[in-house]
Formats: sequence, C-alpha cells, structure tokens
Amino acid sequence: MTDSNQPMPLQARKSGALHGTARVPGDKSISHRALILGALAVGETRISGLLEGEDVINTAKAMRALGAKVERTGDCEWRVHGVGVAGFATPEAPLDFGNSGTGCRLAMGAVAGSPIVATFDGDASLRSRPMRRIVDPLELMGAKVVSSSEGGRLPLALQGARDPLPILYRTPVPSAQIKSAVLLAGLSAPGITTVIEAEASRDHTELMLQHFGATIVTEAEGAHGRKISLTGQPELRGAPVVVPADPSSAAFPMVAALVVPGSDIELTDVMTNPLRTGLITTLREMGASIEDSDVRGDAGEPMARFRVRGSKLKGVEVPPERAPSMIDEYLVLAVAAAFAEGTTVMRGLHELRVKESDRLEATAAMLRVNGVAVEIAGDDLIVEGKGHVPGGGVVATHMDHRIAMSALAMGLASDKPVTVDDTAFIATSFPDFVPMMQRLGAEFG
Ligand code: S3P
Repeated sequence: MTDSNQPMPLQARKSGALHGTARVPGDKSISHRALILGALAVGETRISGLLEGEDVINTAKAMRALGAKVERTGDCEWRVHGVGVAGFATPEAPLDFGNSGTGCRLAMGAVAGSPIVATFDGDASLRSRPMRRIVDPLELMGAKVVSSSEGGRLPLALQGARDPLPILYRTPVPSAQIKSAVLLAGLSAPGITTVIEAEASRDHTELMLQHFGATIVTEAEGAHGRKISLTGQPELRGAPVVVPADPSSAAFPMVAALVVPGSDIELTDVMTNPLRTGLITTLREMGASIEDSDVRGDAGEPMARFRVRGSKLKGVEVPPERAPSMIDEYLVLAVAAAFAEGTTVMRGLHELRVKESDRLEATAAMLRVNGVAVEIAGDDLIVEGKGHVPGGGVVATHMDHRIAMSALAMGLASDKPVTVDDTAFIATSFPDFVPMMQRLGAEFG
C-alpha cells in the first residue's frame, strides 16, 4: 500500500442481526514466521492457510530476494525451499515491508545472522516506527547499522554478523517482535541465546522453531514473565505448517456480533494460543456469550470454533498484565466498551502508541467523533459505556487496518452510520473483510 493511492472511504450502518459461519484468514504472526523459518530451513516447507494479505506477501517477496525459493502452489498454499541458517544472499534492491512491523523486524533478526548487507524499508507508517528496539540487541550480537534515517528509523541498512555472538537479553518492553528478532539472529550464533521478558508475549516463534527441529527451553520468570533459551546453530529442517485462523481478525466479526442485537454467528478454526486470547477473556468478563467447541491443535498451536451471540455487555477493568495477550485488540475492545453499560478501564497501554498508528490517540478519536465519552489518563484508556453509540462521525484511519475494521464494526450497531476515511489498509491483514462481513449481514455502503 502506498500513500499516493486514492483513499477508499466506506460507511457502515445499523444492520439486522448477523448470522452465519465464517473462517477469517490465516494468522498473520504465524504466516510471517512460516515464511521466514521456511527460508532459514533446509529442505521444503509446505504452508497451508497462509494469510495472503499485503503484509505477508511483502515478507514472501523479501525471503525470495534473500535467496529462498518461495512459490504459491494454490489458494493460500505455499511452498518454500530454504537456504539454511546463515545462508541468505545479498538482495539486489531494498526490501520493502510496506505497512508491516512484524515482517520487517523479524527479517532484521534473520538477516543479522547472515554475513550480508540488506536495506529495510516500508511505507510512511512503518518509516515512523521505532527500530532501535530491534537493532540494539542485534548490534550486541555483532550486526551493524550501516545507515538509517533519523532516530534509527527506516530506511535502514543492516550488516549481518559474520560470527554472531550468543547473548542474554532482557527485552525493555514485552514484545514478541524484539524477542523473535533476537532468537532468529541467535540461530546463527554458537552456544545459547537467551531472552528474558518481564511479561510473556506471543510464543509462536518458539513453538515454530521447535517444530522445525531447534532446541528451545522456556522457563517461568517472575510473576508473568518467561526466560527463553535457544541452542544456536541447529539444523533447521523444513516442516509442514497449517496456519489457523487469526484471532486478531476474528475479533472484528466477534465484537460486531456481540453489539448487533440478536446476532448468532460461528467462527471456525480460530487460534486459541493462551498468549493471544486476552480479548476473549475480557469480553466474557463483560458478559459476552462466546462458546467454544471443536478444540484441537496443530504444530503446537491450538484452535477452536466459537459461537458468538448478541449480548448485553457491562464495563470492566482490564489489568495491565493482560496487555501482551491482546495488544492488537484494544481498538475493537473499546468499541465493545462503548456499547456496554458502565465504565471500562484499560490499563498499561503504552505500547499502543508505537503500532501502525498511535492507537491510544486514534482509538479515543474514533470514539469521540461518534459521540462516546472517552479519556486517556497516562497509559490508560477509559471508555464511558452508555449501552448505545450515537455514531454519525468520520473516522481517520491513519494508515491503520485495525482502526478501519473497528470503526466499521461500530457502525453496524450505532444509531447513525459511521464512516471511515480509507479502507485501503484493510488489505494488509484481512483482504476479505468487507465481503465476509456482508455475508454475515453487515450493511456497508
Ligand atoms: C506481533 C507482535 C506484536 C503485535 C503485532 C504482531 C508478532 O507486536 O502487535 O501485530 O507477530 O510478533 P510487538 O511485539 O511489538 O508487541
């Protein structure tokens, strides 16, 4: 997605009850990791259910530019032939990650363990996001920043380490992207690379590394944290990956069904890794009718089918330690909170300021312009739920897919329609969002 493209506004209006069954696209985090680990492994990795959104396609292109063979063999079916740990080739052109922090930052970790120079770039949103948090530990491991924009931002040229050092690294903030970058660089280092996080973040990299044959030991650290130790220089072997449906994408139809009265929908194959289910926990505390069935697992990643029914919600307090397990879901939780009765307090949201947009400000603005009382107090977001949302506002998406989808979900139940100024960025994570929601009964126009 480029900023020069024409904006694509869309309006969501009060809809009848949502009904039907849907499978949202493959998980974005797992899709990026399957391509990157496939590229670092020896032999073939077959991926089914890959998210074919712009973010992931950019990662596929980057892996190809680094020397891996990456082919689309069918609908969401991909095949990767990897180059082996430390085997990347120097790309001919800058790697363009578009809107995707995850693709870019994980690839930085992977490149840091190969003796090559690669330039990382992205769109205006990604160029504004912090990269020091990633390159700081990578430099400790022997990689070097050859050039960057002010403040260590993109475009950034990174020289990978010829002989990477294993390190013990405490992440300054709970971030799966920082953890993953260090572990991916640690694949090329001799000995044990250890990451300590004060609060556990999503562990898809650890689970998939194990699935590809690496040795990883995870221990508890403090009340909510983890210590992860990777044995370097494993022989990573290509392995099949089945990508479950993305709980962060399922969150939009889920909340829409909760707030549109009388709705009754089913969402299939939704990944239920406990480090991703903070939203479901919170919605249930608010009184949501969400039932799971058909619980099963694949390659260490559990999944389930969810039945979601229109529900009367009440305001709750969301503790800060839950943030890593629902970090991408606060926007849509704020929508649920606006339709609830009572106050919802969401604590400890500092990391929302450095996502695809400043999501703390953007969430408050999205609600305010639609007549909802909301306040930011330090790192906390406080929403006054009145049981209904006046609507009638135009929401600025700030190149952020999740703002667009949250605002559209809100418009399906608000008194007056809600307009988003640009839906183009929805294609980064959920290309089918509008038609899938329409099949469930959503009215857009
Ligand atoms: C992701 C980690 C999270 C999340 C992002 C996906 C990942 O970012 O917001 O959408 O796949 O590792 P942080 O690690 O920066 O919290």
